[in-house]
Amino acid sequence: MIQFLLNDELIQIQDEPADLTLLDFLREHKHLTGTKEGCASGDCGACTVVTSEVAQAATPNAKMKGKSSGAYLKYNAINSCITFLSALHKKQVITVEYLRRDDDLHPVQQAMVDANATQCGFCTPGFVMSIYALYQTHNQQQSTVDREQVIHALSGNLCRCTGYKPIIDASLDVCSTALGSKHKKGYEPAENETQIIERLQAIPETGSNQYSILPTTREELAKALTDYPEAHLVAGSTDLALVHTQQLQKLPVLISVKYLPELTHIESKNNVLSIGAASTLSDVEQVMVKHFPNLKEIFERFASVPIRNQATIGGNIANASPIGDMPPVLIALNASVVLDNGKEMREIPLKSFFLAYKQTRLANNEWVHSIRVPLLTDTQQLKVYKVSKRIEDDISAVCMALCITVENNEVKGLSTGFGGVAAIPSSCEALENAMLGKNWQQQSNVAIGKTHLENAFEPISDVRASATYRKQILQNLWHRFWLETNQSQLQIKTRVIEHA
Ligand code: FES
Ligand code: FES
Repeated sequence: MIQFLLNDELIQIQDEPADLTLLDFLREHKHLTGTKEGCASGDCGACTVVTSEVAQAATPNAKMKGKSSGAYLKYNAINSCITFLSALHKKQVITVEYLRRDDDLHPVQQAMVDANATQCGFCTPGFVMSIYALYQTHNQQQSTVDREQVIHALSGNLCRCTGYKPIIDASLDVCSTALGSKHKKGYEPAENETQIIERLQAIPETGSNQYSILPTTREELAKALTDYPEAHLVAGSTDLALVHTQQLQKLPVLISVKYLPELTHIESKNNVLSIGAASTLSDVEQVMVKHFPNLKEIFERFASVPIRNQATIGGNIANASPIGDMPPVLIALNASVVLDNGKEMREIPLKSFFLAYKQTRLANNEWVHSIRVPLLTDTQQLKVYKVSKRIEDDISAVCMALCITVENNEVKGLSTGFGGVAAIPSSCEALENAMLGKNWQQQSNVAIGKTHLENAFEPISDVRASATYRKQILQNLWHRFWLETNQSQLQIKTRVIEHA
């Protein structure tokens, strides 16, 4: 039975359909209508709620008040419209109704009032919840936030009438510890974190019911795949949920891969980063940006914070979308994918994992176990470029990742990854081979590369970009790559956040 806390109420789910979304559950079953429905596809943030779950600090943070055991609550803003109830086992779901105490608004709500940060109000509960997640996290760490962190935290929330300046001002105000204290007066949370931790820890590990299967071991997962051949595997559900909310299809049985501890394990060993396939992109971002600082921008521009808090790296690979942002990066990094069937595992280069549009080498009885990424050597440089209409929360028209090895100006290796230009995430071997042995400083490499890229792909025209535009962009990005890797001081900025 799936069990979670909805604010402070214990919820037990036995008979509800697997494809019941959290948003529908909140609004239609519990009449908590403060959470709004806008797009029902993870694009507007009107449905934002916050989850908290028990996590263990690797090294107990002295700043985390009263967390001597290392257990603390990890807060995440998520989109309830694309979350199935099976994702909530052993978590607390916090809705906007939980924030107000009698006549006292939560400090975040009061800050929104004080900054005149709402007009029609439809988006406001979603903004409040995104800011609440930021507030709780930084309050826990006794740290303040800067404008850039606020803008990232609000990346999944659309407001069409107030304008963002007062909302950002309210966020900065309340999330700065010193200023936040003025809003805290008189406000007491319903339960303290220690009580919530104890209640969540008391919920059993196993949470399956007749429609939602939540295996906790490889054996259980393999058996579930055999017992329910018609079932869908689900991880973050940010893509699968759209089948239900947009195409109105039924998903009678879901098997979640989120509850196998090894599938969310991330470790770096022998210069290889091994990432459990069900790790969220937010968790992957934290680790990968440490090892590959040049990936900071692509992660920040990958959908929005609420999506990254749910979506998984394995899901982004297994759904084999030609416009997913992780596959081009991982292909350029020569990553491999480990597939598991419960009895044995096999490892194949990610480059050869994709067969055709939405088709992969994954067998019916297999799942993606982990992704293995070799770390860069001193002579390698990685660059990733995403071109989309909006900076955040948008799909790539073109994504291009290039990793070059240069020793004494000679190209010793080049690996490439592309998204948005073919039916599958791809590389360009002709370009890789053409650059081998070249003096990288020679300008002629620009023209040679452009010719190969001109001929390598036959992209389509769609709402995001025309085929001609995509071909031109590939060539321009190649030129930029040559400039940036030859003149380290040259960094072409794509994102400038200025104070309004
Ligand atoms: Fe728009 Fe959920 S309703 S993101
Ligand atoms: Fe109207 Fe934001 S206040 S959409």
